[in-house]
Amino acid sequence: MTKAEDFDPVAEFHAWFDEAKRTPLKDPTAMALATVGSDGMPHVRMVLMKEFDRQGVVFFTNTTSAKAQDLQKNARASVCFFWETTRKQVRVQGSVTPVSVEEADAYFASRPRDSQMGAWASLQSQGMGSRAEFEQRLEEVRQLYKDQAIPRPPHWSGYRISLERVEFWIEKPFRLHDRFVYHKVGETWQKQLLYP
Ligand SMILES: Cc1cc2nc3c(=O)[nH]c(=O)nc-3n(C[C@H](O)[C@H](O)[C@H](O)COP(=O)(O)O)c2cc1C
Repeated sequence: MTKAEDFDPVAEFHAWFDEAKRTPLKDPTAMALATVGSDGMPHVRMVLMKEFDRQGVVFFTNTTSAKAQDLQKNARASVCFFWETTRKQVRVQGSVTPVSVEEADAYFASRPRDSQMGAWASLQSQGMGSRAEFEQRLEEVRQLYKDQAIPRPPHWSGYRISLERVEFWIEKPFRLHDRFVYHKVGETWQKQLLYP
């Protein structure tokens, strides 16, 4: 019997993600994010996925970081999930847009207070003289917002990667893996099997 997720990469992603969440993985939302700066060099690092729906994949970060500078110059990115426990991989690529102010505010407000302070104190991706310098900056933020709600820093927000290509990979014995890709064509998806 065919299932809804057979024709929809968003439903398919969520079926796989839910399966991964039922396994003892510390963080099934972790994904490798690749960006390319003006030097043409690919840069990759892990970030956490906060949304995955028809509009795209969302992550949050410091908007002065190296990744954000890459995205300013080249607003395209790829992400890759690998769930070690289920031996499945999902790759997404698409163009990148900033999330709305309302979305960024709402997500920032939901974060633990220590993470909110970290967002103010960290000059993400810049050189740091010593750990003590960071601790000092954290202490200053702690004092500044003592007994107050911590507002979202202007340099902290999120990005949404549109779903232009979504590829699924399932490990099979002897490297005879299953692999298929969805391409966005207008408002519909074209599904294609790929050799592993
Ligand atoms: C599992 C994991 C999750 C992470 N999640 C995030 C995240 O959601 N946002 C973020 O800015 N950095 C996150 N980081 C740190 C980034 O990998 C990276 O060190 C940092 O964002 C600076 O990257 P950049 O200098 O390329 O901009 C995470 C690291 C790991 C290992």
